[in-house]
Amino acid sequence: MTAEYVLRSLLMLFLALLSANASNWLYLAKLSSVGSISDEETCERLRGLIQRQVQICKRSVEVMDAVRRGAQLAIDECQFQFRNRRWNCSTLETMPVFGKVVTQGTREAAFVYAISAASVAFAVTRACSSGELEKCGCDRNVHGVSSEGFQWSGCSDNIAYGVAFSQSFVDVRERSKGQSSSRALMNLHNNEAGRKAILSHMRVECKCHGVSGSCEVKTCWKAMPPFRKVGNVIKEKFDGATEVEQRKVGTTKVLVPRNSQFKPHTDEDLVYLDPSPDFCDHDPRTPGVLGTAGLIVATV
Ligand SMILES: *[C@@H]1O[C@H](CO)[C@@H](O)[C@H](O)[C@H]1NC(C)=O
Repeated sequence: MTAEYVLRSLLMLFLALLSANASNWLYLAKLSSVGSISDEETCERLRGLIQRQVQICKRSVEVMDAVRRGAQLAIDECQFQFRNRRWNCSTLETMPVFGKVVTQGTREAAFVYAISAASVAFAVTRACSSGELEKCGCDRNVHGVSSEGFQWSGCSDNIAYGVAFSQSFVDVRERSKGQSSSRALMNLHNNEAGRKAILSHMRVECKCHGVSGSCEVKTCWKAMPPFRKVGNVIKEKFDGATEVEQRKVGTTKVLVPRNSQFKPHTDEDLVYLDPSPDFCDHDPRTPGVLGTAGLIVATV
């Protein structure tokens, strides 16, 4: 082992620690698919996962391709929602895929965490409904005759399974930190708010049966909203996000609005700690942010 090798290894380790970020699993979107043949090897070779996510992967390798699709869904929806803005959610080939903006506790990071947590819950739930997974299927708890008199039938989306998977996979890094830092609290809050954007917009879809659609019998099932709807809801929460700070209440730490005149945020609102960088200044140290330096402003 040469000295150069040791130095190089140390440097790589340092860079890895430096870029460690709770949203690095989004890097899965860069893969064209996640094979599910050899669990151990597949999980070890996925970039961007922390050790505990690798363990979850090994336990449920069949779910990982849905997680990858979720990561892609999050990136696509982010780019759609921010298509006309200075920060437009463009991704990098490196981690974190959204660049430095998400390493700070900004409003943009709040959006990225919320949409990512939601997208995993969504994609896994979809996979359950489509029958591609052994571990889950349609929600069997929804059955019988409803209070409105229609028959529950068909495949109700098993959102509880998707949400639980998202909680264990996406939140794992924050939970392993013991929820102590204000940034961990912020991420956990926004992850949960993202999942709520699906949960509070579940809908009932129905089909009529009978002579020429006379609807003598109506069968219905519970369905998730389209992901575009989820994106719209989270974007609205981004626009109205609350700036918070950490405070100790008894022995627990909580996030409270920085401006005490503001009403407290709800479980469905987004929260952030740090002001956003000025996206107009081109900062070469902030990869992923395309500034407008060099733009000539004509003054009349
Ligand atoms: C973001 O904006 C830049 C500059 O206008 C553009 O080059 C880039 O393609 C945009 N990215 C996305 C994902 O829309």
